Amino acid sequence: MRTLIAYASKHGTTKKAVEKLAEELTGDIVILNLEDKSAFKTRIEDFDRIIIGGSIYIGKIQKSVRRFCDANLEKLLKAEKLGLFICCGDDERDMEQMVNSFPDKLIERAEVKGYFGYEYDLKKVGFIQRTMLKKAAGVEESESNIKYGNISRFADEFNI
Ligand SMILES: Cc1cc2nc3c(=O)[nH]c(=O)nc-3n(C[C@H](O)[C@H](O)[C@H](O)COP(=O)(O)O)c2cc1C
Repeated sequence: MRTLIAYASKHGTTKKAVEKLAEELTGDIVILNLEDKSAFKTRIEDFDRIIIGGSIYIGKIQKSVRRFCDANLEKLLKAEKLGLFICCGDDERDMEQMVNSFPDKLIERAEVKGYFGYEYDLKKVGFIQRTMLKKAAGVEESESNIKYGNISRFADEFNI
């Protein structure tokens, strides 16, 4: 059983979540960073199961995630099992942002969907973004809130 986890991460939260997820999944796991230039060379059809995830910035998931989904839509729909997840700061709008992030067909098709939490590392963002985060989301200091329980639940459901 071969599983591909394709993801994008700007400041590292999604990467950490993916590494934890990979530890908890059974079978052979290949992790693909969609921001890598060679990512498009990966043969989707070589994998039985596929998981795709990214993080939300100003309401949107990374372009590389969207592009990967659009370019491989038919192959992704044929996967034996499909999982989708996001990392985002607004845990009251996690499912809404998830639905807005992936093509409708993948949302309908995915057997497992997950919300893996968020981190704010104010050392990694510039002044404008810091001000925006403070105003829009009340973020005053760096914070780490990766939802390890959600990752374990996702892995348990995906492993079935
Ligand atoms: C500039 C900026 C904008 C963000 N915009 C949103 C947003 O619109 N909605 C949301 O839920 N989270 C938002 N977030 C929170 C990120 O999704 C969160 O920090 C996440 O952990 C980033 O994951 P990454 O490091 O893997 O990219 C924003 C974060 C930053 C720094």
